[in-house]
Amino acid sequence: MIQPQDSTSQAVRASARDTTLLVMEARSLKKIYGSGEKSLLVLSDASLSLRQGEMVAIVAPSGAGKSTLLHLLAALDTPTSGTVYFANKAIETNDDDAALAEFRNRAVGFLWQRHQLLPDFTAAENVAMPLLLRGEDFTRALGMARKWLAEVGLENRADHRAGELSGGEQQRVAIARALVTGPTVLLADEPTGDLDEQNAWAVFELLERLHRMHGLTSLIATHNLALAARCDRILGLEHGVLGTRGAAASASGAPGGEAS
Ligand SMILES: Nc1ncnc2c1ncn2[C@@H]1O[C@H](COP(=O)(O)OP(=O)(O)O)[C@@H](O)[C@H]1O
Ligand SMILES: [Mg+2]
Repeated sequence: MIQPQDSTSQAVRASARDTTLLVMEARSLKKIYGSGEKSLLVLSDASLSLRQGEMVAIVAPSGAGKSTLLHLLAALDTPTSGTVYFANKAIETNDDDAALAEFRNRAVGFLWQRHQLLPDFTAAENVAMPLLLRGEDFTRALGMARKWLAEVGLENRADHRAGELSGGEQQRVAIARALVTGPTVLLADEPTGDLDEQNAWAVFELLERLHRMHGLTSLIATHNLALAARCDRILGLEHGVLGTRGAAASASGAPGGEAS
C-alpha cells in the first residue's frame, strides 16, 4: 500500500534548499544539425549553471534552440561538442545504455509542450509508465500514479482515458508523469504554450507549488514573459548563446555573457 509522502520530510527537503549547490551545468554546448551545405548551427556556445532549488526561465523566440538545449540537458540528444554535468559528473551520451536510462528516468523529469500522453491509456496508466519502464511492480506503480494525480488535483480523473481529458488536465497528467520518478531536475519545454491564458496560469502555479514542495531545480522554456518574470532568473538564447536577462531587460532583451 502506498502511503502519501510524509509532509514533514517534504518540509525538510524544501528547507534544505541550497542555492550555492550546483545541480546541473552545461559547458560550451554546440549543436549542429545535419552536415555539409545543409548543416544548421543551432547552439554555438551555450553554458549555464543550475543551483539547487532554482527556478529558471529561458525566454527566446521560436527556432532559437530552446528545445534543442533542453534535449541535450536531458541526454535525449548528443551535443556536437561541449559537456553536460549532473551533480558534478559529466553525462557521456556514449555511457552504457543502463547508465543513461538511469539518468533519464531518475535525475530528470521532462515536460513536453505537447503532453505526449498515450490517449487510449488511463491517466493513472500514463503517469505510472516511467515507473513500469524502470521495472517497478504494477500495483505499486499505479499507487504512486494515483498519489501524483492527487497532487495535481486530478484524483477523480485517474481512471479516465487521457484522450478524453481537456488540454489543461492533460498537461497536469504530464506533470504528474514527469515527477512520479522523483527527479532532482524538472526540464519543461513551453509547458503552457498550448493552453489558454487561464489554464496557462493554473499550470504554471501548479509547477511553482510542486517545485517548492519537492525541492526541485527547474528550467522552464517559455514565450510568456509574465510567467517567466515569476522565476528566480531569466535567460535569453540568441545566436546560439545563452545570456542573462533581467526582468527589466526582458523587453529590450539583450543577452550578455555567460549565464550563471
Ligand atoms: N532534428 C533536427 N534536425 C534538423 N534541424 C532541427 C532539428 N531539430 C530542430 N531543428 C532546427 O533547429 C532550430 C532550433 O529548433 P528548436 O530547438 O526546436 O527551437 P525552439 O525550441 O527554440 O523553437 C530550428 O531551426 C529547427 O528547425
Ligand atoms: Mg521548442
